[in-house]
Amino acid sequence: MTKRILSCMQPTSHLHLGNYLGALKNWVRLQDEGGECFYGVVDLHAITQPYERDGLLDATREIAAAYIAGGVDPDKSALFVQSSVPGHSQMMWLLATIAQMGKLERMTQFKDKAGKHKERAGLGLFAYPVLMAADILLYRATHVPVGDDQKQHLELARDIASTFNTRYNVAHFIQPEPYIMGAATRVMSLRDATQKMSKSAESDMSRINLTDDADMIAKKIRKAQTDPEPLPYALKELENRAGALNLVTIYAALADSDKEAVLKEFGGKAFSEFKPALADLAVARLAPMTKRMNELMGDKAEIDNILRKGAVRARAVADPMIAETMEIMGFWK
Ligand code: TYM
Repeated sequence: MTKRILSCMQPTSHLHLGNYLGALKNWVRLQDEGGECFYGVVDLHAITQPYERDGLLDATREIAAAYIAGGVDPDKSALFVQSSVPGHSQMMWLLATIAQMGKLERMTQFKDKAGKHKERAGLGLFAYPVLMAADILLYRATHVPVGDDQKQHLELARDIASTFNTRYNVAHFIQPEPYIMGAATRVMSLRDATQKMSKSAESDMSRINLTDDADMIAKKIRKAQTDPEPLPYALKELENRAGALNLVTIYAALADSDKEAVLKEFGGKAFSEFKPALADLAVARLAPMTKRMNELMGDKAEIDNILRKGAVRARAVADPMIAETMEIMGFWK
């Protein structure tokens, strides 16, 4: 059976190294292995928290440009904007009647994002995982390549799929498999390696953005949190050295290698030697992407063209799926 791959990112800010290593890099691999791929820019998710109205359009295009610059081929993969495929919102409502409040209340991302003032959070933020389940189930995706932080949302999508199938006594939705792969499924903040690298962290020094230039990348790595010890020879010895482990993890992922191999090369060496090597590697990998992204952003009409074609391909799957789902649920047509 051909794999049907679906994954998405939010146009909330610039993409960072975690998004690339934890997700995008795997998207490209799955595409090149011949999967049928749908990659979305989820703008409806992006508005679940305060956002800048006038920046949304370009943020959406920038994410699409990052996909292409990172290796997504719009001829092979359908690259689309979530809001341009009405099925996402429609499916969300249908699934909202299946999703249980108790399960949604357990979602850690909601708790993190809502913070102390849960009662002031919008319904959209609470229902965010249901929209994500809709994104996935709408395409009957078999595999969903994401970073480690999306695991819980994927479990909910699987749960909604099986509850629906049981309630209506059908084999309609497919159970999507999370695809959490590679050396860096959870890239940590460069400032505080107990926190994941994120778009929303206050300090820009905590993350490497795909828009950063070579100097900025080198500076952020130079200042990254580590400790005074040299790198060990064995991975086990990195257990209580979160900052060091994070940099080794990043190196391994960028080099398409693994952490053991990195320690074989750098064991016994000081960070004054390892950090410049990591900076060189990061620049070598990211600079061509940044350049391509900037070129693409110089021709927005072309990006829009690609997204329009992607939407047609996405709708060809999504529209009949909505019709079928509504028929199963007994709606008038
Ligand atoms: P988003 O936009 O926060 O992140 C996009 C992707 O990047 C991964 N990621 C990371 N991976 C490793 N280390 C990190 N520090 C790191 N930070 C982020 C995320 O796991 C994700 O794969 N809810 C999703 C968007 C979404 C979606 C979907 C994903 C909406 N619908 C359907 C898959 C399928 C999100 O917020 O991603």
